[in-house]
Amino acid sequence: FQPKVLAGRRVLVTAGPTFEPIDPVRGITNHSSGKMGFAIARAAQEAGAQVTLVAGPVHLPTPRGVVRLDVQTAQQMHDTVLPAAPGHDVFVATAAVADWRPAASAQQKIKKQGDRRVPTLELTENPDILAAVARLPSPPYCVGFAAESENLLAHASEKRVRKNVPLIVGNVGPATFGRDHNALVLVDADGHREIPTADKLTLARALVRDIAGRLDSSRP
Ligand code: C5P
Repeated sequence: FQPKVLAGRRVLVTAGPTFEPIDPVRGITNHSSGKMGFAIARAAQEAGAQVTLVAGPVHLPTPRGVVRLDVQTAQQMHDTVLPAAPGHDVFVATAAVADWRPAASAQQKIKKQGDRRVPTLELTENPDILAAVARLPSPPYCVGFAAESENLLAHASEKRVRKNVPLIVGNVGPATFGRDHNALVLVDADGHREIPTADKLTLARALVRDIAGRLDSSRP
């Protein structure tokens, strides 16, 4: 049984990777199973919240009671999240959004050249969904994620300031992708706190309790 610490709150979560098509059969994507984001959606729902989960391409069942919207590209995720965000109290951005997409996606499969010339890909930047939500006139409480291979604390606090969000959650484990266990470090304006290694649902429940406490102290 989970205490209903988010009763009456609305929570928006992004999860999984995005997929940026190069042509109808190829694309650019990131490593992400979506497990952490789905666990957060489930934990928030168990805590009494109304939860909207915007998911990139993943192979995971929808948590019970959660409204799920499936998208493929970063632009689609952005266009789904931005209009939904003002109706939510909390936004948790766990998605591993592709930073760039092909500037033009080919309508037909790009064929190999007889002379073995290799095509070059021109990339263009994707919108930063978390930063865009944080810029809304009265944004939900924004929580970002940081998956770094080194200097996690420094990168997480730099990201927190750059995206102008109150909380960034770093993945401590070196290779958490697709794994069921992880550890988290919560970085806010005052410092950081670790949630020790556990399965992702346990971590998600701890994170949800932490976020609920922050809402209660800032917005009674
Ligand atoms: O900039 P970086 O990708 O390292 O930041 C990670 C955080 O920002 C995550 O919370 C991720 O979901 C979010 N993000 C986003 N849109 C992007 C890139 C990252 O919402 N285009």
